[in-house]
Amino acid sequence: MLRFETAGESHGECLVATLQGLPAGIPISLEAVNRELWRRQQGYGRGGRMKIETDRAEIVAGVRHSHTIGSPVAILIRNKDWENWTEALPVEDIDGAEDKRKPVTRPRPGHADLAGAIKYGFHDARYILERASARETTARVALGAIAKALLGEFSIHVLSHVIAVGPVRLERAAAWEELVDLSLRNEVLLRCVDSATEARMKEVVDEAYRTGDTVGGVFEVVAHGAPVGLGSHVAWDTRLDGRLAQAIVSMQAVKGVEVGFAAEGAASFGSKVQDTIHYNKDAHRFTRGANRAGGLEGGMTNGQDVLVRGMLKPISTLRRPLESVDLVTREPAAAAYERSDVCVVPAAGVIGEAMVAIVLAQAFLEKFGGDSLSETRRNFESYLEQVRNF
Ligand SMILES: Cc1cc2nc3c(=O)[nH]c(=O)nc-3n(C[C@H](O)[C@H](O)[C@H](O)COP(=O)(O)O)c2cc1C
Repeated sequence: MLRFETAGESHGECLVATLQGLPAGIPISLEAVNRELWRRQQGYGRGGRMKIETDRAEIVAGVRHSHTIGSPVAILIRNKDWENWTEALPVEDIDGAEDKRKPVTRPRPGHADLAGAIKYGFHDARYILERASARETTARVALGAIAKALLGEFSIHVLSHVIAVGPVRLERAAAWEELVDLSLRNEVLLRCVDSATEARMKEVVDEAYRTGDTVGGVFEVVAHGAPVGLGSHVAWDTRLDGRLAQAIVSMQAVKGVEVGFAAEGAASFGSKVQDTIHYNKDAHRFTRGANRAGGLEGGMTNGQDVLVRGMLKPISTLRRPLESVDLVTREPAAAAYERSDVCVVPAAGVIGEAMVAIVLAQAFLEKFGGDSLSETRRNFESYLEQVRNF
């Protein structure tokens, strides 16, 4: 079982991530991990924080001589901003520490601030927002890069693109090659494959900047090359669509998930929605008329591209703050403002890739197992042989 955990707060010393259950022998490139971290920091609409941080992963366990060794992988990512918070958030209480705090007593609607303060018994939402912050996703992306390294050994690749920002939507399908091109770009705007649509998306973000507002959108993650049969129909918690949905909705600000063309399907007739089945006798393989199911039927991959979309609400911290109430005085007050992003849909796509890669890697190792990459490969190839001979 591939298990992952993260720890760390937004303005603490560092983020920490662990991943346990990987076979030995997976080639790991620190450069590839850092490239993913860089991709997470890009996109038009990010706030000042991204200018402070240039995230770098330090792998401190589980990888030696550029390969996994079978033991848990541990990754550390330092918060550059920590130097500005050492007195506000010290580990040990020291004399005078009280005066150095940066309390948040005016909870922001749409954040964990109020529910977390009540639940954990703080009259300051600082400790809550420190962990609820999407800074935590940096750790997920680092682990996602490791999961991608495993999947890549089996020619399974996971990428994403932005299909909507506010009301502006990409009105055509994107080819896999377009996603590859996007992922190789060193200048990132909104990570949309269509430049005219991307320009209109940018106008929406500009309007949000102008008016002190924020904007959400939709990203699509595509997993290319997954074999038929990851996940299973036999139980609610083995169904891969459900597991992917949880992984995506667990992301900060993601409020909805769609597998394939779910929303469109719900508004259509069955004859228009299901992907017809065909057989190519020369190639000895089944083919499908379309991929509206998003590569998942009965909770299993069906050999087509896996398509999962995440819907992000607009960012909750507004420069033009919303109404709130002070936790101490109980008087009406404008919600707190702390340097914040205006649009994060491109970054969310990268985080979505990491989550999909981790869940696919889990399902992959459940099916093929192995303590070493060569053992996993033998199991995988023997299964492919079975599929070929079906
Ligand atoms: C990449 C990314 C960056 C984010 N940046 C901010 C931000 O700068 N300010 C903010 O208020 N919320 C930001 N959020 C959203 C909050 O983290 C999220 O809304 C909050 O933790 C409450 O969780 P919920 O929206 O899932 O209920 C970001 C989310 C993501 C995915």
